[in-house]
Amino acid sequence: MLNDKVILITGGSRGLGKALAKAFAAEGAKVVIAARHADTLESAKREIEASGGTALALAADVTQPQDIARIVDTTIERFGRIDVLINNAGTLGPTPRPSLIDTDPDALLETFRINTVGPLRVTQAVLPRMIEQGGGLVINVTSDAARGAYPEWGAYGASKAALELIGLTWAAELEGTGVRVVNVDPGDLQTDMHQAAFPGEDISDRALPESSRSRRVRDSPPTCRVGAKPPCGTDSARASEKRAAAWRLNLAKVLEPWNAL
Ligand SMILES: NC(=O)c1ccc[n+]([C@@H]2O[C@H](COP(=O)([O-])OP(=O)(O)OC[C@H]3O[C@@H](n4cnc5c(N)ncnc54)[C@H](OP(=O)(O)O)[C@@H]3O)[C@@H](O)[C@H]2O)c1
Repeated sequence: MLNDKVILITGGSRGLGKALAKAFAAEGAKVVIAARHADTLESAKREIEASGGTALALAADVTQPQDIARIVDTTIERFGRIDVLINNAGTLGPTPRPSLIDTDPDALLETFRINTVGPLRVTQAVLPRMIEQGGGLVINVTSDAARGAYPEWGAYGASKAALELIGLTWAAELEGTGVRVVNVDPGDLQTDMHQAAFPGEDISDRALPESSRSRRVRDSPPTCRVGAKPPCGTDSARASEKRAAAWRLNLAKVLEPWNAL
């Protein structure tokens, strides 16, 4: 299904990013995984290759422009194109999760640097190539914390809410270029980040990241144009929740445009 698609996954060394990389490589995609710690990254690459997949592992920090430029250049050198970018690298922010009164503004800024500015930078770096190719898909991995005011999730939730709005804005700005941008919420997963969010708690009832390939996820709502007819633009919380439910999709469906690239 994904034969020869080149998929760049930030935060591909563990958790959701690694699970997606393994699943897509098994379907024939060439995956490029990036994360800061080279040892974990290399071991993820070995796992993918042991199952017959093709993977390139590039140690990089999404907050560092020179690292991002290197990921993009090396991917193009090796595979000649980038079909899909998955902005998956993320941080929970300060742990244990503080309430806002105790949130260090510098920690909030750092959370934004990784969860919001990082994806913006990587998308900016990848876009010229996608536009030149005539198309591409950018997936921002978001969270339900972007939409609910959960106590003690302020820094993380705000960074993901900003990421979602940037994703919607990208989608509007890129209309007609062949590049699609979607926000996807994978739901609660058994990962290091989730365990850090609930220290000491048994999280074995959460879904395994490996199940994300086929789980229902939330795609972003289409962007409303100024003056659009209802329901676009009728923004009671209820209406927007109803719309969100209508846009719940299977991840495979979110990825459908890959076939058309
Ligand atoms: N787990 C959940 O329940 C859940 C729910 C909703 C949304 N999400 C979202 O899903 C995504 C993946 O989460 P996860 O649970 O799989 O997290 P995870 O297990 O903590 O993995 C995070 C990944 O991001 C990388 N990373 C972190 N900071 C980075 C940076 N500055 N530059 C490059 N890579 C960086 C990490 O590697 P290094 O540390 O080596 O860099 C690692 O590969 C995140 O965006 C998260 O917000 C998770």
